[in-house]
Amino acid sequence: MNTPILVTGGTGTLGRYVVGRLREKGSEIRVLTRTPRPPADGVTYVAGDLATGDGAAAAVEGIGTIVHLAGTQKGDDVKARHLMAAAARAGAEHVVYISVVGADRTPVKSAIDRAMFGYVAAKRAAEEIVAASGVPYSTLRATQFHELAFQAVAAMAKLPVVFAPGGTSMQPIAADEVAARLVELALGEPQGLVADMGGPRIHSFAGLARSYLRATGRRRPIVSVPAPGAAARAFRAGANLTPEHAVGHQTWEDFLTQRLAI
Ligand SMILES: NC(=O)c1ccc[n+]([C@@H]2O[C@H](COP(=O)([O-])OP(=O)(O)OC[C@H]3O[C@@H](n4cnc5c(N)ncnc54)[C@H](OP(=O)(O)O)[C@@H]3O)[C@@H](O)[C@H]2O)c1
Repeated sequence: MNTPILVTGGTGTLGRYVVGRLREKGSEIRVLTRTPRPPADGVTYVAGDLATGDGAAAAVEGIGTIVHLAGTQKGDDVKARHLMAAAARAGAEHVVYISVVGADRTPVKSAIDRAMFGYVAAKRAAEEIVAASGVPYSTLRATQFHELAFQAVAAMAKLPVVFAPGGTSMQPIAADEVAARLVELALGEPQGLVADMGGPRIHSFAGLARSYLRATGRRRPIVSVPAPGAAARAFRAGANLTPEHAVGHQTWEDFLTQRLAI
């Protein structure tokens, strides 16, 4: 039976790629969003806010597969709880969830950890909520997207001195490549936690900032400051990296060239 696929976060950076790719495969799409709009190109939009649970029950009605991408800096555990309760009640058959590499190995215990890495703890809690929901699932952990790394270094470069988290590296990946994997998962059988997905190369944060400054013709001193706390220490030890799954193709340099040409 061909039921629509529900995509939460279908209006976001990753979600737009996922929706586009699912449409190419011929899937009907329902997008849950806080800002609904008229239907277009095989995509309908339903109003919902996963932070409160409003609209979740209506969004999952008649849905077999859910791709859960909605996410913000805070409260992804709460969003997952609302969505998964509604999905379980409605008898959903498969939920595909996007998490972040290192969610399982970043200790977030102190107030400092929570202030700086609460996002990672919430992703981990959300993974557990998805796994315990009773709805068959596939969870993919990805490294940071090029798009996010770009936003971060562009914001840092607005200051006269660029402060980079010392000793911390990133392994950025193209959001569209992560989208392709999520679509493959959504159109297949539930697989539980699948292999991590990381970008092709590991860069120091300072190195990302340096290449951005060079590409945009700016000069700024870069000062590396190690962040305090156990979670930051885990990142310095590489918790957010997955060198053994460096499966992404588009490099940071290629992304930068493409992005700055727009
Ligand atoms: N960015 C990264 O580097 C990265 C790496 C690994 C994993 N991820 C995960 O990938 C997912 C997508 O990230 P992204 O960078 O594409 O995010 P994004 O561009 O910021 O988009 C966020 C999406 O979440 C939706 N959303 C936010 N709060 C919501 C709420 N309360 N109720 C319903 N929908 C809500 C937004 O929809 P509306 O505004 O239309 O309501 C939007 O579509 C997130 O779960 C994130 O944790 C991101």
